[in-house]
Amino acid sequence: MKVFVALDFGSAGPALEAARALAPLGVGFKVGLELFTAAGPAVVRDVQALGGPVFLDLKLHDIPNTVGGAARAAAALGVGWLTVHASAGPAAMRAAVEAAPGVGLLGVTVLTSLGEDDLAALGVTRGVAEQVRALGLAAVAAGCRGVVCSPREVALLRAALPAGAIVLATGVRPAGVAAGDQARVGTPRETVAAGADMVVVGRAVTAAADPVAACRAVLAEVAEAARQWLN
Ligand code: C5P
Repeated sequence: MKVFVALDFGSAGPALEAARALAPLGVGFKVGLELFTAAGPAVVRDVQALGGPVFLDLKLHDIPNTVGGAARAAAALGVGWLTVHASAGPAAMRAAVEAAPGVGLLGVTVLTSLGEDDLAALGVTRGVAEQVRALGLAAVAAGCRGVVCSPREVALLRAALPAGAIVLATGVRPAGVAAGDQARVGTPRETVAAGADMVVVGRAVTAAADPVAACRAVLAEVAEAARQWLN
């Protein structure tokens, strides 16, 4: 079970400060749009230097040629994991898979900040669960190693996807932590019990008064749930 901490910071300084403090706990780090836009490939290399694979969460969503090119550039950076929106379509996901054979491509299903009303406003009327299932199956069929979803859809994807597909959950909140802009959240315990292979925690750790203590608590909850899940 891998836990990634999302380094959602606006510049390299605080991101690296947080990463240096948390790296001894054995977590991985996720570099997303905010940090990558502000600090670029250099910050990815700096985080890689702390050890462990970096999860580059660029959520690529473009035509196949462009998605493939971006995935190739990410592979050259040596990242472990990269995201592409499943809604970019099968050809775009295949282009990423072909361009970055050494990278674990994960298809983003439905953003964890979206609820049923948001999907309806976008013309998607079949509901979150059905949409997540369809996009997850499309991602794996296109060759992605796995999918990104909310804690609430982990179990349905675990059941729908072939064995060996990675299910990574974001929107993970220890009990009592504010949901913020996330609409579909779950605790670390629920997420692991539902069958997630990897989890991402962001503000629940990085915005805590004591990020190291908050991270230790998440890791302990994940480890305990994983033990119960295995037994
Ligand atoms: O702070 P919080 O725990 O909500 O951060 C969640 C992280 O996971 C953010 O970096 C966000 O970009 C990412 N994410 C998400 N929903 C997805 C995919 C990624 O919230 N479907």
